[in-house]
Amino acid sequence: GIYAQGMFTDTRPEITTNLATLEEQAAATLTPEALGYIVASAGSGSTARANRDAFDAWRIAPRMLRSAAERDHATTILGTALPAPLMIAPVGIQTLAHPDGELATVRAAAALGVPYIHSTQASHSFEQVAEAGGDAPRWYQLYWPTDESVLLSFLGRAQDTGFTTLVLTLDTTLLGWRPADLDRGYLPFLANLGIENYLSDPAFRAGLEQPVDANPIAAAMHWAQMFPNPGLNWSQLAFLRQHWDGPIVLKGICTVGDARSALEHGVDGIVVSNHGGRQIDGARASLDALPEIVDAVGDRLTVLFDSGVRTGADMAKALALGADAVLLGRPFLYGLALAGQAGVEHVLRCILAEFDLVTSLSGHTGASELGRESVIRA
Ligand code: FNR
Repeated sequence: GIYAQGMFTDTRPEITTNLATLEEQAAATLTPEALGYIVASAGSGSTARANRDAFDAWRIAPRMLRSAAERDHATTILGTALPAPLMIAPVGIQTLAHPDGELATVRAAAALGVPYIHSTQASHSFEQVAEAGGDAPRWYQLYWPTDESVLLSFLGRAQDTGFTTLVLTLDTTLLGWRPADLDRGYLPFLANLGIENYLSDPAFRAGLEQPVDANPIAAAMHWAQMFPNPGLNWSQLAFLRQHWDGPIVLKGICTVGDARSALEHGVDGIVVSNHGGRQIDGARASLDALPEIVDAVGDRLTVLFDSGVRTGADMAKALALGADAVLLGRPFLYGLALAGQAGVEHVLRCILAEFDLVTSLSGHTGASELGRESVIRA
């Protein structure tokens, strides 16, 4: 209800409606460690900046007098119905932002019908999130652990608790060079933060010499042995197909070559993403990769997009350049930090309302009408 039928409401929200400055407001509430982990990016931050610059380099080209009174942004992505082409990006350790963590996020997502994607590195387990989320749509994001019994257990638990699509993240087989964390000697996982899926896992526990409570450090070290997986390669995808009964999406595709390989390996979709600039400092902007990837595979693969989306206008630009839907990353975390579930709901409502306004004001009756002619290079 922040914005209805083109009229402002008279309630003053406690969180800013300026999605571009939300980061500043949230930053004031976070501990230095949480701020460093959430906001900072890899290396000099050049990829994170490039993500934003790429959005600024595209401008919306509005059309007038086009009967845009009735709007419908609803879509279906890999069998999941969405009120608008927006999903919650998989983000680990959400308790760093707010004590309710993923439970608040999945409840906010459920309230608005926006799909939630559960990170392998979450601070709540599959089962806890499934209970909090009820019947609302949810997908599971896998970091492929090198221990096969844990991998199979994760896939089984995710399917048993109603996660319908599997998103395999490819760009984080090792953690990127992140000076904000390195300078503090801060790695939340080693304090057993963000490894709840592991700690609650029977196969993981079977590999521990002592129970987690008796030796939490050993549990974190056990995690640290199976998380890094730089040996991962294309031939392993067949194994996922055998053990996952639903759509499979590859997250972290940045080149046409990899998009074509994804197609050849029979996956259902990709996420064009550079992980918000958190992995390779100097990598190309995610948005710069989008049009050529859509041209190469967009008619045969579902193409999702993230990295740098901050506003409803950004969402419109990514959709105009061919994304089927957009994943929202840091902004929802800022809402979470500021006000838990209500904060995530606020941010989702703001971006959806602004998206609706921008599309209507620029002459579109729905998200599906956005196309290359809707934007122009600045
Ligand atoms: C992430 N991201 C991420 N991705 C993933 O596949 N699994 C994960 O566990 C995480 N964890 C994570 C933690 C934090 C604090 C952030 C900010 C991001 C990446 C996320 O899904 C998405 O790709 C980026 O957030 C997009 O960039 P922007 O829009 O946040 O800049």
